[in-house]
Amino acid sequence: MTPLRIFTLLLMLLPMAMQARDRQSFNAEWRFHKGEAETAEKADFDDSEWREVTLPHDWAIEGPFDVKYNARCGGLPFHGTGWYRKSFTVPASAKDQKVTVEFDGAMYNAHVWLNGHFLGSRPFGYMGFEFDMTPYLNFGEEENVISVRLTPEDLSSRWYPGAGIYRNTWIEIKDESHIDHWGTFVSTPSVSKESAEVNIETKIVHDGDETREATLKSTLLDPSGKSVGEATTPLNLLPGETRVVTQPIYVSSPQLWGMKSPVLYTAVSEIISGDTAVDRYETPFGIRTLEFIPGEGMRLNGEKVRLNGVCMHHDLGALGAAVNYRATERQMEIMMEMGVNSIRTSHNPPSPELLQICDRLGLLVQVEAFDCWQMAKVPNGYNKFFDEWHERDLRDMIRRDRNHPSVIMWSIGNEILEQGTKDGWKMARHLHRICKDEDPTRLTSAGFNYYPASVKNGLAAEVDIPGFNYKPLAYSTVSKEHPDWNILGSETSSCTSSRGVYHLPIEKYEKHESLQVTSYDLIGPPWAYPPDIEFRFLGENPNVLGEYIWTGFDYLGEPTPHGGKDNSTNGYWNEDWPSRSSYFGAVDLCGFPKDRFFLYQSHWTDVKDNPMVHLLPHWNWEDRAGQEIPVYVYTNAEEAELFLNGKSLGRKVKGKDKPKQIVAFNNWEEGNDWETPYRLRWDVPFEAGELKVIAYQDGKAIAEDSHKTAGAPAKLELTADRPEITADGKDLSFVTVRVLDKDGNFCPNATNQIDFKLEGPASIAAVDNGNAASLESFQAPTRKAFSGMALVVIRGEDGKSGEIKLTATSEGLEPLTIPLVSK
Ligand code: GAL
Repeated sequence: MTPLRIFTLLLMLLPMAMQARDRQSFNAEWRFHKGEAETAEKADFDDSEWREVTLPHDWAIEGPFDVKYNARCGGLPFHGTGWYRKSFTVPASAKDQKVTVEFDGAMYNAHVWLNGHFLGSRPFGYMGFEFDMTPYLNFGEEENVISVRLTPEDLSSRWYPGAGIYRNTWIEIKDESHIDHWGTFVSTPSVSKESAEVNIETKIVHDGDETREATLKSTLLDPSGKSVGEATTPLNLLPGETRVVTQPIYVSSPQLWGMKSPVLYTAVSEIISGDTAVDRYETPFGIRTLEFIPGEGMRLNGEKVRLNGVCMHHDLGALGAAVNYRATERQMEIMMEMGVNSIRTSHNPPSPELLQICDRLGLLVQVEAFDCWQMAKVPNGYNKFFDEWHERDLRDMIRRDRNHPSVIMWSIGNEILEQGTKDGWKMARHLHRICKDEDPTRLTSAGFNYYPASVKNGLAAEVDIPGFNYKPLAYSTVSKEHPDWNILGSETSSCTSSRGVYHLPIEKYEKHESLQVTSYDLIGPPWAYPPDIEFRFLGENPNVLGEYIWTGFDYLGEPTPHGGKDNSTNGYWNEDWPSRSSYFGAVDLCGFPKDRFFLYQSHWTDVKDNPMVHLLPHWNWEDRAGQEIPVYVYTNAEEAELFLNGKSLGRKVKGKDKPKQIVAFNNWEEGNDWETPYRLRWDVPFEAGELKVIAYQDGKAIAEDSHKTAGAPAKLELTADRPEITADGKDLSFVTVRVLDKDGNFCPNATNQIDFKLEGPASIAAVDNGNAASLESFQAPTRKAFSGMALVVIRGEDGKSGEIKLTATSEGLEPLTIPLVSK
């Protein structure tokens, strides 16, 4: 029996009183067709030949890569028409109820029909939407068919957008008197140690033909599920009425939501008619205070917080744009290990799951709405839909996300071209006002890259927190000229590198013939600069709220510096094919840290909590015997000592020995030895053996790192991030593959082809190696190592538990099998 039919049966068995809103996943048993399909919106269309898929689904990640799909968008087949259809039944008992379908997001330009009747459309692929299916539904045995047509266009994105119904879908059966979609707004207008005022606004819809006496009961549950306060409001609901009810509830001795203790409460809203709860809706929320103090910065629960942030695009690397909870959670965990405390959802509303995860982990989020307004950045961008849809999209984004304690501000746009126009401020004001209308409790922001135009043309003054992209040199001037502003480094650095790749001698270049970028963290496009520069100017301007680096993770598309100066045609980006994904990440597309991860970690984490030191490059320079190799050390300790084969090469103190004036990428001269207060450098004549660094704090050794010259590849190492996964068809184990020599030393240049075999109830969800210029399939059971590493992602089967064995083989290397379990 299919899951939906089991659900249907269960529903029929439940007594009416228990039916206070049923929300179920609608992801199973869809059929998919890539291409146009005449009359596929009709109920009797024959889709039996179409492929069966489970949502979320991204058709483009399946490949194959092709230059015609544009390197800028990942070179993956994301545009064209795609159809999805699903048959389902709804129990007869739901006849007098409301039945809705919700899409968390469909990429792009969704048109939806039920049984041949048009339900509606939603152009913006990043915003979720709900349709009422009730008027056209068949109840009982008779089947229903929902059809979805998507038409993502070529030249419509500056990065890989993904394609398909790539987020979760839901079906809801609810009473004619119910809480509206995203119908609650929980805020905490006053918070002290003793008490918090929790204000709940609830939007109630009564779709019945008759007046109904009912009560709205709101109950607050603490993290253990105990009721800590409630309010009831009598309702006399008129036919067709929509009403907003406001209820303040006081919680004594509230537990505050903070980065170290992300405590979540739940507001339970019930509509009670007679003695039956006819609707029940849960809103997780947090109690916290957030202050922005010009000249000083941001305070969370009274304590100053600097934003150590990352910009993140929405894709999940080799898994594509298809939402996956564990893959998103892993991204956040890796970022937190780097010292990140905030995420900017560049440049669009994120998945609902991302915010759930950030609430749970204690990450702060800037939610961004748009990458353009009316002026186009690409020929078929959102600007085509902006006039008609921006207000709906922005309001919906805020209604959806305003209860998340992790959300600290709304960004109304990134690098909006209207900055350069005399009346661009009008749209900024309009969007700012929409934000305030939906959420007066949070501040607005935007990422401005034109300076001083964004200030002169009045846009910066229209938002609460002007964000500046790549303008650290402007911080002190803006702060002096506008002492009443809170400002932000909304996008910073844009340094580029390929994990484990070092080109010697250190040279200045934009593009390299290898299509890889050296990992000395000294390369970036002309508008960009090394992380060190932002560190310096944030250090000199403590009032600036912090920074969001471009980017935390590598992402698909935008392979700068390979291609990419001319924004008007996507074709330009194909010059350096097969370079097809970004080099900007502090970690690569697999989530493996690049050196830059450790540079940020050294600056963003405290030596007391997380003593660390990192050494680069690797120590396999056999072809450069005796030649000087630049060696860098990133540490959060004050001092470090380098050793080559046991012999000390001296100690260096961070920021004291030879600190050089920090310059930008575009005025960096070759030959500059690039020692900054944030990195230590030695030049070491190569001699095979062990290069080791020891970091010292207060004279005590607190961390070490080393590289040994590796011999020929001989074996493999497999490490699962989680050897045990849940058998739900969604949970993932990420297995890191490293190539080792016979003595177990990591081979940093290995490129061996590795084949994977699985036994047990699981499949390979994806493979990758972090090489931004590889055209190997993300879905084949084989991958070449890149800089000695590869990744294989294992997904368990839904409802099938058992032992799983992963075997990796590679010609000339010892094969290896590791056990995993799906439970
Ligand atoms: C910024 C832009 C980002 C990305 C970045 C690359 O100007 O906002 O989306 O393109 O440049 O450096």
